[in-house]
Order: sequence, then C-alpha cells, then structure tokens
Amino acid sequence: MMDWTDRHCRRFLRLLAPRALLYTEMIVANAVVRGDRARLLGQDSRDQPVALQLGGSDPAVLAAAARIGIDFGYAEINLNVGCPSERVQDAEFGACLMADAPRVADCVAAMRSAVAVPVTVKCRTGIDDHDSYEFLARFVETVAAAGCRTFIVHARKALLGGLTPRQNREIPPLHHETVWRLKGDLPHLSIVVNGGICSVATAEAQWPHADGVMVGREAYHNPYFIGLLDRLAWPAGAPPLPEPADVVETLRPYVAEHVGRGDRLHAITRHMLGLYAHRPGARAFRRVLSELGSRSGADFAVLEAAVAAAEGTPRLRTTA
Ligand SMILES: Cc1cc2nc3c(=O)[nH]c(=O)nc-3n(C[C@H](O)[C@H](O)[C@H](O)COP(=O)(O)O)c2cc1C
Repeated sequence: MMDWTDRHCRRFLRLLAPRALLYTEMIVANAVVRGDRARLLGQDSRDQPVALQLGGSDPAVLAAAARIGIDFGYAEINLNVGCPSERVQDAEFGACLMADAPRVADCVAAMRSAVAVPVTVKCRTGIDDHDSYEFLARFVETVAAAGCRTFIVHARKALLGGLTPRQNREIPPLHHETVWRLKGDLPHLSIVVNGGICSVATAEAQWPHADGVMVGREAYHNPYFIGLLDRLAWPAGAPPLPEPADVVETLRPYVAEHVGRGDRLHAITRHMLGLYAHRPGARAFRRVLSELGSRSGADFAVLEAAVAAAEGTPRLRTTA
C-alpha cells in the first residue's frame, strides 16, 4: 500500500507475522530502471518473503525492473492492475489495464522470461461498465495463458472516472463470491481474495473458496490481525504472538541503526501507531508516539516512553 507498506512497516509487521507474504508499495517500473534503486528497493533481508509490486505497462521496462528486483532479493514480482488513480491512468497502467488483457499478458510474458520467481497479478473484479463475471474470467484466462499462475483479486470493481482512489476502496460494493466463482471455474490457478477482510471470521469464510487472503487496511491499523491470520494459516510450529513491549524491544537495534544513519524516528514509528489497538493503553501509546516521535533528535527513548505510557494504564479498574 503506497506510503504505508514501506521497508520500515514491513520490518515491523514481520515481527508479528513470521510467514505471511508481505508486499511492497506499488513502485513504478520506470523509476526502478532510471531512479535511485537502493532507495526504492532496499530492504532488510530478514523480511523475506516479500513480493515487489510494480506499476507499468511497457513489457521491456517491466522486465528490466523485475530483474533489478531480483537483485534486491524479492521473492515474487507482482503487477498492479488495480490502482485507479488519475495519475496512474494517465500513464496507462494500473486498473485501466484490465481493458487490455493482451497487453497485460505481454507484460507478464516479458517479466517471466526475465526472472525465475513467480510473476503474479493483482487486479479488480472489473472496471466501469466492464463488470460482468465473463469479463473478469476472460481477463484472467488471457493473462494466465502467458504463464501467470496467481491472481490477487480485489473483490470490487474500480470506477475510473470521478472517484478518488480512497472512494474506489469504499464505494463500489464488495463481491467476494465473484472471486470464489473464479476459483471454482479455474481451479488450476491460485486465486487470492482481497477487500474488506477485517475479522478472523471474514477471513475464515474465504478459506474454502480461495487459495489465500490478502489483508490491507485492517492489518495496517491493527497489526495483531495479520499476526493472528499468520497463525491460523500455518498452525504448525507457530511461535507465540509476542507482546507489544517485546515487539518494541526487538526493534531496538533496528531503530538505533536507522536513526543513527539519519532517518527520522517518525519514519519508523508512524507505522506502529496500531501496536496496542484494542488493548488498554492504545491511546496513550499513540499520543506519545505522535507528540514526540517526529521531533528532531527523537530516538528509541520515545518508543520506550510510549510503551511505559501504554503499560502504565491500569488493566482492571475496581471500585473496591
Ligand atoms: C493507503 C493505501 C494505499 C494503497 N496502495 C496500494 C498499492 O500500492 N498497490 C495495490 O495493489 N493496492 C494498494 N492499495 C489497495 C489495497 O492493497 C487493497 O487492495 C484495498 O485496500 C482493499 O483491501 P483491504 O480492504 O484489506 O484494505 C492501497 C490501499 C490503501 C489504503
């Protein structure tokens, strides 16, 4: 998720979800090829497996970007065919590519010939008036013929005129059953369902009908959610979920290293505001991080103070 699942966010989430496949933000393939690769793609090797999501529609550029991604250790290359933003439409990639399945197939074929890791596609159930099940199935079959074996389907269509990206994540209704039907009709493909999965019950309702679930906003705002799903998906040998204070302590050397290098503490802690979500102390934790985390010179001591503020909250109030 752009501006959210950057390297610091992934370092943090990996401590709660040791096995889930994490995804980068969408990174524009042109920028990878021509820009500051280390800044765009640099990551902590402990975070693997991580999929690199690329945005683009030029097969040669995507292939070059995918190859560079492999040099940085990514475990999968994913093509974004779901982003509805105007800027992305103007550049002719993202969700608007659903109208041009042969082009997406060419992109997949080019990337597949460049890398040995899986090349996957994240798409919507449709765009604008192209919202029939047949349209989606044809798109997926065309792209699958180029060798894509895994599709992550955000279970709502995108409206490309008039809605902001945010509205496009909320207004078009969700249809998980459309994604389930796709899996039923194309059982040889791996179909992952995404969109509105905010509780364990909603995730469990998907299990019989899809090969996996992708969780976005809820995992970001309530990171224990992805920790819980990680353990439900792979119950064998799961390490126990760490307590929030242990997560913070584990990050001590990471924070010291990055702050020591000149990164602002806030760049890391802004992703951690939900660490105490649904627990006593959540508000105190967020307040300390928000007030002190972005001050210049802020270091790990701010995180310690935030934990102390959260843990100092009485867990049980009695009137006796
Ligand atoms: C801030 C933000 C940024 C996003 N950026 C991306 C992105 O870069 N690539 C992508 O495929 N989806 C992106 N999405 C969409 C999510 O991946 C996901 O498809 C959508 O939020 C629905 O899933 P959810 O209900 O679990 O959040 C973004 C969502 C948000 C909230």
